[in-house]
Amino acid sequence: MCDHKKTYADSKDPNRLYFHDLGAANENMFLESFNQGLIMHEMGGFNVTLAKEVFKIPDDYEVGIMIAIGYQGTNDSLPEKFKVKNTKPRERKPLSQIAFLEDLGHVYKK
Ligand SMILES: Cc1cc2nc3c(=O)[nH]c(=O)nc-3n(C[C@H](O)[C@H](O)[C@H](O)COP(=O)(O)O)c2cc1C
Repeated sequence: MCDHKKTYADSKDPNRLYFHDLGAANENMFLESFNQGLIMHEMGGFNVTLAKEVFKIPDDYEVGIMIAIGYQGTNDSLPEKFKVKNTKPRERKPLSQIAFLEDLGHVYKK
């Protein structure tokens, strides 16, 4: 379970960046898992209320995603519907669809 505290420990003020912190922690887990030969699969599709109850997560924490960590299996062990999908090349969106840049040419002109 990847969750994060919504307030600062000392001042108790709200931490508006808590989801950023969760994302950064998540990414670090990805990198270290890969470093140790493990695979991570994050999932947002689960019952948050039930997860909070089962893992006894305090109200001051926001539940983010559920993460499965393990060793890579073989394609044979997958259910039929995932076998084909798993052998297809992964497709990623081009950067132009997810990053929005201002034309800063005038800033650097002398
Ligand atoms: C925030 C987030 C939530 C996700 N939720 C689910 C989920 O509920 N179930 C699922 O099967 N995959 C979910 N995924 C997708 C997988 O974690 C994974 O990114 C995807 O299968 C692509 O895998 P690949 O990087 O090996 O191509 C989620 C991914 C992200 C980033």
